[in-house]
Amino acid sequence: MASWLLFSVFSCVLLLPEPAFGITRHYTLDIKMHNVTRLCHTKSLVSVNGKFPGPKIIAREGDQLLIKVVNHVPNNISLHWHGIRQLRSGWADGPAYITQCPIQTGQSYVYNYTIVGQRGTLWYHAHISWLRATVYGPLIILPKHGVPYPFPKPHKEVPMVFGEWFNTDTEAIIRQATLTGGGPNVSDAYTINGLPGPLYNCSAKDTFRLRVKAGKTYLLRIINAALNDELFFSIANHTVTVVEADAVYVKPFETNTILIAPGQTTNVLLKTKPSYPSASFFMTARPYATGQGTFDNTTVAGILEYEQPKHAKTNIKNLPLFTPVLPALNDTNFATKFSNKLRSLNSKKFPANVPQEVDRKFFFTVGLGTNPCNHKNNQTCQGPTNTTMFAASISNISFTLPTKALLQSHYSGRSNGVYSPNFPWSPIVPFNYTGTPPNNTMVSTGTNLMVLRYNTSVELVMQDTSILGAESHPLHLHGFNFFVVGQGFGNFDPNKDPKKFNLVDPIERNTVGVPSGGWAAIRFLADNPGVWFMHCHLEVHTSWGLRMAWLVLDGDKPDQKLIPPPADLPKC
Ligand code: C2O
Repeated sequence: MASWLLFSVFSCVLLLPEPAFGITRHYTLDIKMHNVTRLCHTKSLVSVNGKFPGPKIIAREGDQLLIKVVNHVPNNISLHWHGIRQLRSGWADGPAYITQCPIQTGQSYVYNYTIVGQRGTLWYHAHISWLRATVYGPLIILPKHGVPYPFPKPHKEVPMVFGEWFNTDTEAIIRQATLTGGGPNVSDAYTINGLPGPLYNCSAKDTFRLRVKAGKTYLLRIINAALNDELFFSIANHTVTVVEADAVYVKPFETNTILIAPGQTTNVLLKTKPSYPSASFFMTARPYATGQGTFDNTTVAGILEYEQPKHAKTNIKNLPLFTPVLPALNDTNFATKFSNKLRSLNSKKFPANVPQEVDRKFFFTVGLGTNPCNHKNNQTCQGPTNTTMFAASISNISFTLPTKALLQSHYSGRSNGVYSPNFPWSPIVPFNYTGTPPNNTMVSTGTNLMVLRYNTSVELVMQDTSILGAESHPLHLHGFNFFVVGQGFGNFDPNKDPKKFNLVDPIERNTVGVPSGGWAAIRFLADNPGVWFMHCHLEVHTSWGLRMAWLVLDGDKPDQKLIPPPADLPKC
């Protein structure tokens, strides 16, 4: 009798359906100044809760997050939850002047959103000016209770966030560059979890160490929060298995090296050696750079250390230390091969819902350009020539941020003078995009939005240009994941290239590297009403205008409409 009762209790527990709704999690993020020293340079930087990088935010699929952000610094601030879909909750997306006015000094705002249909590694960062240089941290979404990963359960999970360290104030750097029209100063170091590591001067004590046990599997949640650089990453004498990108499971594949663009995340499984190796291993990252400008070509290193058996006598510091071999700084061949390996898992539980038919096709160019030098009194500029300033554009429109937020302007029906709903579906003046650049490289400026009806299925080809040099551009779309159905070099051919599109298991993500001197084709379903920013995640290019926004209109049904704005939404 007793055992029967016990049995039925157990079966009840087992049969209990997983809860349809998650819990509500409260966080408070205090944006405050904080002194940090790296490379023997101390500076006061804008931080989250006095931490650099910022604290980890954890939630589960289905949870609601209420994140109160309090601004204690002189700068205006706003935070973006990079990769969160924000279904109907665009007010919580965060890009300044797109979905909200910034939070002013002394003010606060509660970001309120629910995580629907997503699990994996994402991150958050400041989304105004260059403050994301120091204001960033991991945003980790665990699967719902009782739902396993589609790969062996790791022994431990470790976030590894790449960043860039500047000895001087990054706000001063971008201010200066905007004034002179020149390229901004490059960083002084790359970092792993805020630490540059032993390959830099005065930095050995600031080294990220990953302590592991032999014979175990670790899940590394890798995030590229660097401002301006795509990065190669490798661990000496180890291979890793890529299992997720941008919080979407992928078909697992093994590799020595990964490539990760700013904005992207990559989960990898690291299987440690079956027995104690009597050695330590560098984990290094350095850039993949294709542009013509100067860049920080240094290398960040962390150390993979094995827990020693009890009887081991060698001091861990005296063990041999192996170094990985990274691809050359401009190894586009590796970049192409790596991105071709990324495929959606496309399993029963995690299908790839690629739009098979599209309602609208768009063709945008992405690249650099120029503005005339705006200095008075014959002063010269420091752009590509002394009469020009660097600019960047999408389809030759360099996007100007408005002084009011686009989402409010749309919602309140007062968009006149704030934006124009007429972004061109393809460039107004076509040219040989990857051939000899045109003589006139001047961009036009504007705040132009592409308007989409609710549930439009979209195909967008993004074409790099050779103006001021071809360059790989990591394009990030807010509010959606998209499928990368095709990529290639040279000019996109609308007759030939679509035949080769992968509509079965293309990678699904929120940030894609448009190949240097090539193109990327993406598809997405515009099922999320709101105003959604799209921009290059190289911060310097965003600053120069390589950005635009989509306006997705409400659907007819009540659950297809943007929710009303929260009462504490900041005002401009
Ligand atoms: Cu991670 Cu609009 O950015």
